[in-house]
Amino acid sequence: MTAVVVGASSGLGRVIATELAQRGHALLLVASDARDIEAVGADLRIRYGSTVRTLALDLAREADPGARVAAALDGLPPLESLLLPAGVSRPDDDLGLDASRIGELLAINLHAPLAIVHGLLPRLRETRGVVVVFSSIAAVRGRSRNVVYSAAKRGIESLAESLRHRYTPAELRVQVYRLGFLATNLTHGLDLPTAAAPPAAIARIVVGRLQRGSGLWYLPLRFALIAAAVRLLPWPLFRRMRT
Ligand SMILES: NC(=O)c1ccc[n+]([C@@H]2O[C@H](COP(=O)([O-])OP(=O)(O)OC[C@H]3O[C@@H](n4cnc5c(N)ncnc54)[C@H](OP(=O)(O)O)[C@@H]3O)[C@@H](O)[C@H]2O)c1
Repeated sequence: MTAVVVGASSGLGRVIATELAQRGHALLLVASDARDIEAVGADLRIRYGSTVRTLALDLAREADPGARVAAALDGLPPLESLLLPAGVSRPDDDLGLDASRIGELLAINLHAPLAIVHGLLPRLRETRGVVVVFSSIAAVRGRSRNVVYSAAKRGIESLAESLRHRYTPAELRVQVYRLGFLATNLTHGLDLPTAAAPPAAIARIVVGRLQRGSGLWYLPLRFALIAAAVRLLPWPLFRRMRT
């Protein structure tokens, strides 16, 4: 069976790809930089003898990423898992962004996952497969930083809910992760309020749950408590926080 990992060149996506290769999945790996993603693919072929195809796709500029990914699957074993850990955030995403940058953030974080899920649905339904999307603790409550990013992450959660509304778990499984801080490029150099988790530990959990049913989980788990506390804060107090 084949797994697609969109955003497989670094961070969480890269370690998810490694974990999947170790467990014998055929892979289609997607990222924007052709050299980076081919280097990841070559490494997995050598280390695990895996069937790995790579696709360089700039999700900020690709009008129909679903069609491109679907076409790249031809000739591979049936598609069983679609994992979407691509994502990008910007330090200036604070209600001052110009329209083209807003468009880029939305294209990568929301349009691409929506379009790729739509493009691959017929194949995923044939195998009663699984879609895995990655939301963020940033989406728990609206605030004056990460404005477009967190709007996109809420959109991703809405997509997951729509899929679960339309299909029974016997037809398609949908798994959502609300992630806290991970030690990846996305958080590199940021002054975080709490320690960042190693992505390899998260990848093991995500891949280990692929055969399970639909669900929504916080990872690392302690962020479930943090999210609950953030939600319970009275608005006047929450407004004063600058995290
Ligand atoms: N790290 C955290 O603390 C954290 C917290 C909450 C949620 N998340 C979410 O977790 C997921 C994984 O994030 P991460 O920390 O692993 O990030 P990362 O290390 O920055 O990796 C992001 C991946 O997305 C790909 N990507 C970015 N822009 C792209 C584009 N225009 N076209 C194609 N691919 C593109 C990157 O490939 P290229 O470099 O080739 O473009 C890379 O493979 C994301 O959805 C993120 O929003 C992360």
